[in-house]
Amino acid sequence: MTEAVKTLAPVMCVVGARPNFMKMAPILRALASHEPPIPALLLHTGQHYDTDMSKKLFVDLGLPQPDINLEVGSGSHAVQTAEVMKRFEPTLDEHKPSCVLVVGDVNSTLACTLVAVKKGVSVAHVEAGLRSYDRKMPEEINRLLTDQVADRLYTTERSAADNLAREGIDLARVCFAGNVMIDSVEASRAHARPAAQTLRDHSLDPALVAGRYGVVTLHRPSNVDDPQTLKHLLDLLAQVSRDLPLVFAMHPRTRSNIERFGLQALLDPARVAVLPPQGYLEMQGLMGGATLVLTDSGGLQEETTALGVPCLTLRENTERPITVEQGTNTLIGLDGAALLAGVAEILAGKGKQGRVPEFWDGHAAERIAADLYQWLTPASA
Ligand code: UD1
Repeated sequence: MTEAVKTLAPVMCVVGARPNFMKMAPILRALASHEPPIPALLLHTGQHYDTDMSKKLFVDLGLPQPDINLEVGSGSHAVQTAEVMKRFEPTLDEHKPSCVLVVGDVNSTLACTLVAVKKGVSVAHVEAGLRSYDRKMPEEINRLLTDQVADRLYTTERSAADNLAREGIDLARVCFAGNVMIDSVEASRAHARPAAQTLRDHSLDPALVAGRYGVVTLHRPSNVDDPQTLKHLLDLLAQVSRDLPLVFAMHPRTRSNIERFGLQALLDPARVAVLPPQGYLEMQGLMGGATLVLTDSGGLQEETTALGVPCLTLRENTERPITVEQGTNTLIGLDGAALLAGVAEILAGKGKQGRVPEFWDGHAAERIAADLYQWLTPASA
């Protein structure tokens, strides 16, 4: 063993919110199985904290209990980001990691990056360079700022490097590693929970998913925070559900807004099964058996492409263009006619087939571990 390996301090791996967990699980496994093993510490900021949004996903993904939990909880963007920063700083001082590894684009990603770089601790960003070019999305701001200051940037698709180059980022910092989200899809395929079982778990009639059905998720503030927009989307879902039963895994933000705006009656429970946020294995089973997915999530656009299930995205833009160009994704926005036409096409068997993009092969985390090791211990190269 070289001197460099013996002295390598742990990599501090940061997770905060639901979409981070499926990205970090394969990375932690790849760091541990790298030869030599790369030491790691898992830090959870606590941005998502409850059983549905966090704890169950840890179990499903085989994530270890976090070594550190900052327990920040919910708040406005400013409060949440500031609280993560305040609590992360002393933790960083205490643990002196070799680098901080962040994933995705949530508030915790940016908060920990800012603290680390200002203290001279290197940052590696997994899922760098994705751009929706929509600065009204909080995630877009998090992506732009994180990539500007992080030291090592791992991308999931080749177009991400073009975005980074346009922002003046030296491509020597960029490594095309592939999509770690798909590592989790591949690792869990054999363990996905059948859709009928998931409905039974919630005392709902499994007959709803015995034939063709669709899966729905919605949580973007732009879709669910405005009463008119939310009503428009629920009206459309009600229309779709007359031809295709739907399973709606409802984010807490969406549920509370539906109640606040008094829109509960729009969805017919005989045609739309409303579930709480689902575990990872439940979601994989629901999507895997679905005829189509309707969503505004970034992650589901990618997972449906990997699973070969047509996805209609209820957003005007996507930071994941490869899912449209090569995969099964179609952007619909809020256009009701386009949505109904898209659904009809899929039900007629003319949905997008797509193909799985380059390096979405279940081995992205291994490529990241190999590169990270070289980067952290240049003497070993
Ligand atoms: C966050 C991420 C978003 C990601 C989404 C997935 C940012 C800017 N946004 O948005 O990129 O796609 O997570 O879920 O980081 N809540 C609970 N239990 C929890 C966590 C939250 O009930 O464990 C409720 C709270 O009322 C909270 C609301 O959900 O106010 C929204 O949570 P928050 O983390 O602020 O943002 P998300 O909309 O989940």
